[in-house]
Amino acid sequence: MSRSLFAKKPLDVLLEEMKGESRLRRILGPVQLTSLGVGAIIGTGIFVLTGVAAHDKTGPALMLSFVVSGLACIFAALCYAEFASMVPVAGSAYTYAYATLGEMMAWIIGWDLVLEYAVASATVAHGWSHYFQDFIHIFGWTFPEAYSNSPIDYDAATGHIVSTGKIFDLPALGIAVVITAVLVKGIRESASFNAVMVGVKVAIVFFVIGVGVFYIDPRNWTPFAPYGFGGLTFFGKTIWGITDAGGQPLGVMAGAATIFFAYIGFDSISTHSEEAKNPSRDVPIGIITSLLLCTVLYIAVSAVLTGMVPYNKISVDAPVSNAFQQAGLPWARYLIAFGALTGITSVLLVMMLSQPRVLLAMARDGLLPKSFFGAVHERFRTPWKSTILTGIFVSILASFLPLGILADLVNIGTLLAFVIVCAAVLIMRKTNPDARRPFRAPLGAFVPLAGMTICLLLMFSLPVANWYRLFGWLAIGMLIYFAYGRKHSTLESEIEKYAGAAKGKRP
Ligand code: ALA
Repeated sequence: MSRSLFAKKPLDVLLEEMKGESRLRRILGPVQLTSLGVGAIIGTGIFVLTGVAAHDKTGPALMLSFVVSGLACIFAALCYAEFASMVPVAGSAYTYAYATLGEMMAWIIGWDLVLEYAVASATVAHGWSHYFQDFIHIFGWTFPEAYSNSPIDYDAATGHIVSTGKIFDLPALGIAVVITAVLVKGIRESASFNAVMVGVKVAIVFFVIGVGVFYIDPRNWTPFAPYGFGGLTFFGKTIWGITDAGGQPLGVMAGAATIFFAYIGFDSISTHSEEAKNPSRDVPIGIITSLLLCTVLYIAVSAVLTGMVPYNKISVDAPVSNAFQQAGLPWARYLIAFGALTGITSVLLVMMLSQPRVLLAMARDGLLPKSFFGAVHERFRTPWKSTILTGIFVSILASFLPLGILADLVNIGTLLAFVIVCAAVLIMRKTNPDARRPFRAPLGAFVPLAGMTICLLLMFSLPVANWYRLFGWLAIGMLIYFAYGRKHSTLESEIEKYAGAAKGKRP
């Protein structure tokens, strides 16, 4: 076991590997990739989390929180785009880390991406269930109580797990199963299904902005930042701003860290690089276009929402539909619930599509069992076994566990992934300065450095408990790595196998 924990996979080897067997079908163009990005982005964050953020952490300054979080994502997106154009393979940040920071860091980030995709999917499926139950009221139906929620919940006030008296969350389980079936069938079907849902949810977001703007009362924007602009803490010590009685940071930065969840997903486009027709050009286009579009929509929605309703009267459960109810447009509730339901479905679809692709990349490197995670279905050309496993994992988490607590864990995990990708771009520019970069993040080192800085600040604007949960999650990951991945890594044999072929083609 002499291989270093920091052994890297050379760029040449990565590029050679792409020509191998068992690759996914290349059928996605720029419009489909952008649509996958928007599909993954607009969902629970804007339709649900804006309520808690505005009511409890920011007030009308929620708009600024969206700007701060959006900036962090735009810098990270430019770094993702640079990497995706250079190394258009399925593993996304995991692959980028393997090429620059070495095997152990790659494993850490791959494991971290499980938080971003699978655990986020479970959080989102749980939210889907609540919107579903709200939506069916339109037909006068009520879902059987016993199957309407997870059996346990987390009581933030006491810090205890409490019983809800329910058996399990059947709609959450149901949607996870349906999405899994669609995903096993194939990427083309998934992409078309997604495109329709994206159309519906974007139309409803435009409706919210276009109609809501006429119900704005500018007096609601004063005071603008009742909780201040800060919210930075360092392991329990307040650095900037105020905290609530429980020590949770408050203010624009704290709000930005919460609503960061709303932006998660644009990077999932990079996990589809292997299915893109022209990945070097189209993946950067997809990442940047979908993120810019959503950033503009989010800032507009938060301005409208906080303009329609005084911040302390914004609903924490269904902020957008409730704002229309308060404005005297109760029928809009169902329209918005429908938009939210559709939006959240497409988030689930793309997130659950992305997870198996990261696992596939890890399995190809031997860090996970290849016969299972590396299996590509003969007819559908999809990583079907790991898609089903992801579906089972998401279904169980979503139907049985209290998931509110997991949203911030997803945030801190994803922010860590962004920090690593920004750092990896800088390292790659140093180690492979002449490699072909069809897209290069502008302004030299500024973009990666600014991305790292803002993402780190956001990590420190989350309640401190998330750091401990993240450490716990990573510790479990390290155990698995040393028990399996480190022993089965195929790095050395791959370098030997491809080195000859790659040698003559070095740039
Ligand atoms: N950005 C996704 C959402 O808000 C995860 O649902």
